[in-house]
Amino acid sequence: MAVMESAFDPYWREAWTRRQVEDSLSLSSGFMLLADQNGEVPSEAADAAGFVLARKVLDEVELLLIGVSPDMRGRGIGRLLLDRFFEASREAGAARVFLEMRANNDAERVYLAAGFEPIGRRRDYYRTLDGTPIDAVTFAKSL
Ligand SMILES: CC(C)(COP(=O)(O)OP(=O)(O)OC[C@H]1O[C@@H](n2cnc3c(N)ncnc32)[C@H](O)[C@@H]1OP(=O)(O)O)[C@@H](O)C(=O)NCCC(=O)NCCS
Repeated sequence: MAVMESAFDPYWREAWTRRQVEDSLSLSSGFMLLADQNGEVPSEAADAAGFVLARKVLDEVELLLIGVSPDMRGRGIGRLLLDRFFEASREAGAARVFLEMRANNDAERVYLAAGFEPIGRRRDYYRTLDGTPIDAVTFAKSL
């Protein structure tokens, strides 16, 4: 939750509450990956520098959220988490992974570099804190 709270600007209303995270992980389809500052699996959650939250839906896995602490960005932790996400999804039997993000998120560069391709757009799907509508863009990648 410390990474969650530092990684997401409240303006975009993307961060999840502890309750939302717990609910998603209480389902058998939900899973989380953590990385420490070296990209390794941390021995304690308090050492996490980044996380991925995901859920399996039939033969696809949806990346729900990815976040890296602002002071740890640009060191490859996000990319390592995505690679581990692809691996975990393959092991779970998925043929494809997908995600949805707000249209103007810088994370798009990270997703494209990791092989995701845009496949759809939902107009005015999100609202910022001041009510500004923003499109959602869906990305997918075959494994
Ligand atoms: C998106 C995010 C997880 C990336 O984490 P990161 O650890 O900084 O990413 P990496 O260091 O592994 O970078 C991966 C690639 O993306 C590029 N990149 C990373 N952040 C970028 C940014 N803000 N703008 C442009 N390019 C970026 C890197 O240069 C790198 O490219 P390369 O492999 O060609 O060198 C991180 O910026 C973040 O937590 N953002 C806020 C939360 C968010 O918006 N999450 C996504 C929506 S759920």
